[in-house]
Amino acid sequence: MKKRVIFSLMAIMLIAMTVGSAFAGGSSQQSSGGVTRGMDRKIVMGYSQIGAESEWRTACTNSVKAAATDWNIDLRFSDAQQKQENQLQAIRSFIQQKVDVIAFTPVVSTGWEAILQECKDAGIPTICVDRTVDAPNTLYNTYIGSDIKEEGRKAGRWLVEYMNKIGRGSKNPVNVVELQGTVGSAAATDRQSGIMEILAQYPNYKVIKSQTGNFTRSEGKQVMEAFLKSDGDIIDVLFAHNDDMAIGAIQAIEEYGRKPGTDIIIVSFDAVKGAFEAMIAGKLNASIECNPLLGPQIMDAAVRILKGERVEKWIASEEGQYDQTNAAAAYPSRQY
Ligand code: AHR
Repeated sequence: MKKRVIFSLMAIMLIAMTVGSAFAGGSSQQSSGGVTRGMDRKIVMGYSQIGAESEWRTACTNSVKAAATDWNIDLRFSDAQQKQENQLQAIRSFIQQKVDVIAFTPVVSTGWEAILQECKDAGIPTICVDRTVDAPNTLYNTYIGSDIKEEGRKAGRWLVEYMNKIGRGSKNPVNVVELQGTVGSAAATDRQSGIMEILAQYPNYKVIKSQTGNFTRSEGKQVMEAFLKSDGDIIDVLFAHNDDMAIGAIQAIEEYGRKPGTDIIIVSFDAVKGAFEAMIAGKLNASIECNPLLGPQIMDAAVRILKGERVEKWIASEEGQYDQTNAAAAYPSRQY
């Protein structure tokens, strides 16, 4: 009798676990009792993350998960593996699950209008995180993240000032190569346009090669190897749209036999710990910060939206910029 009861209980648990994971559609969930901070009930958030392409992205995911735990929000987290179609599928599944709020980081900026309209029709508020969408801002509640174009401008200004300081600013031409992020992502298009806006003011700066490295270390290395193969001895500057690609490129430059940070001046984005280590070692010249610790702002905005409070259309993150003059002092207090 006792054995039969234990067996039945185990069978029930197994069925419950299977149904639970099918319901999640491949996403991971965290849930427990109690109410969400600032609410009179526990709320459910669906979150569609791009993937895990960089040190930055991992820090962002960790921040979202930790903040959901802090706020006691039931988080349904889905990893899109860099594919917009997976994001659309995840968001549709969140609508079916009738979550209270949907947050997502759009892998590319176009192609969101229809799904945002579906969320709106279902009465589910939406929060864009880290990358912007090309869609009317009436279709989503708020964007939380950086001024990405301004990051590009900061990188351009930093470079021009530094090149002048080391006496290489008037070289004609200053040969620039660029490792772009994911094609079609706001993080790549806006950084590029910010950089170009500044370089356009200095006609001796010539971009001789520009190609995507998809924000990953391995592709950053591969593409830099190809740049070096064709133009290795004449490259003066590398802009990498993130630190991971810069770190991959540094390896390629060393293998080619030139000195990163001296022969080739390198400016990248994110300011992750790996970039600080490279700056301290003199191999990376500057990193423009892009803050991935967005979890608390996301949860706070979700609660405010659900309480019917007014929420700004853009909640900006605070960011600095680092180079070899301030990297060592800042490194011990870096959180990512
Ligand atoms: O959208 C932010 C960018 O995406 C970060 O710069 C990059 O590292 C990430 O993968």
